[in-house]
Amino acid sequence: MVQQRSGEKSNNEAAGESEARLKSLSHSAATIPFSGIRRFFDIASKMEDVVSLGVGEPDFATPWSVRESAIYSLERGQTTYTSNLGLPELRREISKHLERLYKVSYDPEKEVLVTVGVSEGLDLAARAILDPGDEVLIPEPCYVSYKPCVSLAGGIPVSVPTYAEKKFLLDKNDLASRTTSKTKAILIGYPSNPTGAVMPKDKLEDLVSFACERGLYIISDEIYDRLVYEGEHTCVASLPGAYERTITLNGFSKSYAMTGWRIGYACAAPSIITLMMKIHSYTMLCAPITGQKAAIEALRHGDSAVADMVEQYNQRRRLIVDQLNAIGLKCHMPEGAFYAFPNITSTGLSSEEFAEQLLMKERVAVAPGTAFGAGGEGHVRCSYATGIERIEEALRRMGRFVESLRE
Ligand SMILES: Cc1ncc(COP(=O)(O)O)c(C=O)c1O
Repeated sequence: MVQQRSGEKSNNEAAGESEARLKSLSHSAATIPFSGIRRFFDIASKMEDVVSLGVGEPDFATPWSVRESAIYSLERGQTTYTSNLGLPELRREISKHLERLYKVSYDPEKEVLVTVGVSEGLDLAARAILDPGDEVLIPEPCYVSYKPCVSLAGGIPVSVPTYAEKKFLLDKNDLASRTTSKTKAILIGYPSNPTGAVMPKDKLEDLVSFACERGLYIISDEIYDRLVYEGEHTCVASLPGAYERTITLNGFSKSYAMTGWRIGYACAAPSIITLMMKIHSYTMLCAPITGQKAAIEALRHGDSAVADMVEQYNQRRRLIVDQLNAIGLKCHMPEGAFYAFPNITSTGLSSEEFAEQLLMKERVAVAPGTAFGAGGEGHVRCSYATGIERIEEALRRMGRFVESLRE
């Protein structure tokens, strides 16, 4: 190390004389909060013997034929960029898939964009629709990214509460009372993370007719569409009046256990997709080719693997909801996704206190309901995307924890 002679100025000091003070970082990036789930999982990841009901990702590996098709594609040296919109073959499969399941037609040439997960789709949708100060109605509790995506696009997220007594379903009157001349869009995600709510068709029709009356866009995150255990999923864009105003977002992470492949898609009218594609072409360029190849196989031959996983989630759903109720944590039966959202107010703890004490005392990780916004207080989110034995162990520990609070 070179010694500095006393009286001599360091490089930094010398530079300081001729340089202005470094300017502050982006205000909008600095002021959005970190996800409320993160803190718990950072702690949990450093502890031993933790049973996690915290993470929102399937415990299954991606179906073998899907992995195999990706390996084969790599063996053939398919390691390039793709078109900005995504591989034409994948876009055609996506279009056929939506037509088959929901009778919605999207032109694969102009109305389908392959994205880096639904995460990117949400960001693109917000940026394509919003100008600074535009308001977006968001039913809460909701997925942690919705509000930050809107804020980062310059918009203003406006919370619309939903209530446990109404099965967390969105009410048209609650939308109306929060709509102003600045409202531009409604951002929904059903089946819901974290509540498991599935909006029935008639309620969605009300929502679409409300959007039509007010000239609003609808961003519909349907990533859990295949994970519905009671009734059926309604694709919002299939409803009368919805097509021209709706951006359908979906992907492979949940239904096909493909979180790490980072493939999603957005479907909408050409005018909207053109703008989303323009932003995507400058920021992502394209989604990863290996993931796109895998996604083609998932759409072509993935149905039976999806059905097997749904069957297992369904068993776990019944088990976890029965047991949560049995230990005194009132829990409604979620109709979709893979989350139970029990009420923990009987313990006298807030949802943060409950999650923290449960982790420290019994080493079970759950997400505090407050991480999902308004209406989350008094609840915790328990993911059942984990093996049945682990769920049983978590429930034994939770039972002991709840019991200890009564002593
Ligand atoms: C409702 C919802 N939307 C989007 C995502 C992100 O999905 P992707 O992996 O496709 O980016 C998640 C992940 O947890 C989610 O729960």
